[in-house]
Amino acid sequence: MAAVASQSLRVSLDGTRDYDILIERGCLARAGALLKDRFGERRIFIVRDAQVDAHAKALESALSAAGYSFQSITLPEGEDAKSWPVLQQTVNAMLEARLDRKSLVVALGGGVAGDHGGFAAAITLRGLDYVQVPTTLLSQVDSSVGGKTGINAPQGKNLVGAFHQPVLVLIDNTTLDTLPDRHMRAGYAEIVKYAFIRDAGFFEWLEANGAKVMARDDGALAHAVATSCAAKAAVVAADEREGGVRALLNFGHTFAHALEATCNYDRRLLHGEAVAIGMALAFDTSVRMGLCTAADAARATAHMQRLGMPTRIADIKDFPATTPDALVGLMGHDKKAIGGKLTFILSRGIGHAFVSREADIALVKEALAASMRT
Ligand code: GLY
Repeated sequence: MAAVASQSLRVSLDGTRDYDILIERGCLARAGALLKDRFGERRIFIVRDAQVDAHAKALESALSAAGYSFQSITLPEGEDAKSWPVLQQTVNAMLEARLDRKSLVVALGGGVAGDHGGFAAAITLRGLDYVQVPTTLLSQVDSSVGGKTGINAPQGKNLVGAFHQPVLVLIDNTTLDTLPDRHMRAGYAEIVKYAFIRDAGFFEWLEANGAKVMARDDGALAHAVATSCAAKAAVVAADEREGGVRALLNFGHTFAHALEATCNYDRRLLHGEAVAIGMALAFDTSVRMGLCTAADAARATAHMQRLGMPTRIADIKDFPATTPDALVGLMGHDKKAIGGKLTFILSRGIGHAFVSREADIALVKEALAASMRT
């Protein structure tokens, strides 16, 4: 497949906060000029992950070449960065840097940098513009678009935060050249999620081309990322604050969050891996409830397995001993639970997900027990 040079997608909100997602191989090296064209002279503050030295250098040279001066903060590795103490350091550094209301925050890295940097931008000086520069597949196709920002609380993941939309998302697929395969597979789970939710045609395309995406074929990757971002942009445009259709983006996530909490959000289980297992569980629960054919569920799960994603709880190395009851108990702490009722996204077949507050919990537990069996 021929490489697609550059694609620009629009996230249409209310006309005043609309923004572009620019997907272009190599655009990091042009970031300074791109920002100058769109935003003119600004003071820039970079919030970046620890593991992105090379990308940070590329960004900094591009900013310098465009005449920008900037300061930056490097977050500690992993979910620990999404904590009150680290957020306080970021906000202090921004204030020390004497940012003003016209300053621009640039979040560079994976989902942690985006969530943390976006939230720091949301609350500093009552709200600063920020640009997302996602460098992992998962953040390129999901977390960098849509304005969900935040940190974790002792009570749970992402429980403190704000909807604060970026002013631009810059996606440079060259950043994936060095991304470990495990993280590629985890990001792919969020790509296939869009197909499972409402695009059976995209699923067929992924069945034919998923291996190329995983092998980082330029054209296939650009198409998969652009299709995912377009799906996300459409959902966010329709329902920015998750009053309705945006909840579909949580397909597999009620299960995933319980699995991640059981693993203490550590490296045993990446978010995308938990989502892959969660989506297989959502399909299985849907089959058990008589909503979805076993053939569709098997086809969905087989695709994820073929591309190396875990699809069963038993696939998680060193998963702590637990029970279906305990896992369902953890789901009650999820922020999607309303009035004590759990929300699941279930499926009537590939491409047909829907929000359910009526899932049969006994069947959810059966699906969990089956998934845990070795
Ligand atoms: N990651 C789900 C959402 O942004 O709504």
